[in-house]
Amino acid sequence: MENLNIPQHVAIILDGNGRWAKKRHLPRNMGHRQGSKVVEQIIEDAHDLGIKYLTVYAFSTENWKRPQDEVNALMKLLRDYLKTCIKRANKNNMKVRVIGDITGLSEDLQEKIIELEKASKDNTGINFTIALNYGSRDEMVRAMRHMAEDLENGNLSKDAITEEVFKGYLDTKELPDPDLMIRTSGEERLSNFMLWQLAYTEFYFTDVLWPDFNKKELIKAIEYYNGRDRRFGGI
Ligand code: IPE
Ligand code: IPE
Ligand code: MG
Repeated sequence: MENLNIPQHVAIILDGNGRWAKKRHLPRNMGHRQGSKVVEQIIEDAHDLGIKYLTVYAFSTENWKRPQDEVNALMKLLRDYLKTCIKRANKNNMKVRVIGDITGLSEDLQEKIIELEKASKDNTGINFTIALNYGSRDEMVRAMRHMAEDLENGNLSKDAITEEVFKGYLDTKELPDPDLMIRTSGEERLSNFMLWQLAYTEFYFTDVLWPDFNKKELIKAIEYYNGRDRRFGGI
């Protein structure tokens, strides 16, 4: 544990809530409930370890395809979470952001999210980002539309478009690219998560199901990261 090089930004695809519940003969929603508790704990653990940015993929643009009662239960969990989050954010000095198309969420959730981002914007501790109704392709298409608008109204010229400028149109414009991406539950795919931002990120996959993930597992992921030789195209 000593002398670990701590990644600045860790992004997590939390997966396996349903399988965790199934193994225990519980409804899937119980897996989501336990999973949300683990998110709470991992924010604290990440902060203790000195991680500055933690991003979690909580609901994808594709997750609307799930049965209505599961979607409802996930939205209820989110509502409960947001209710307590402002207090917790200020207590822990945590800055919270949401990425994804929040206009696709119900109005009360949108209001809560805006309120939470505003209330925590001056906090200087860990930057916690939740990806909600997030899909990387959707994010890029929204960015493109916004860019097209700026081209049309003269705020942007074609020749001024660079990678840096494009980045400025993404939901993640205020975040550094992730150094380490973790996916739990044994799946080894991105499922439409941060396709642009993960270009040079180290990937860590584990069979552990998200509701069983803990600080020890997080440290294992960081140890794996420490063993990688990051090159960014150089030698
Ligand atoms: C991850 O767990 C949580 C969300 C995608 C909301 P899953 O619900 O995908 O769990 P599995 O993959 O079915 O086990
Ligand atoms: C990815 O998990 C999305 C989130 C973690 C929010 P899924 O469980 O939805 O992904 P697939 O369907 O297995 O690719
Ligand atoms: Mg899954």
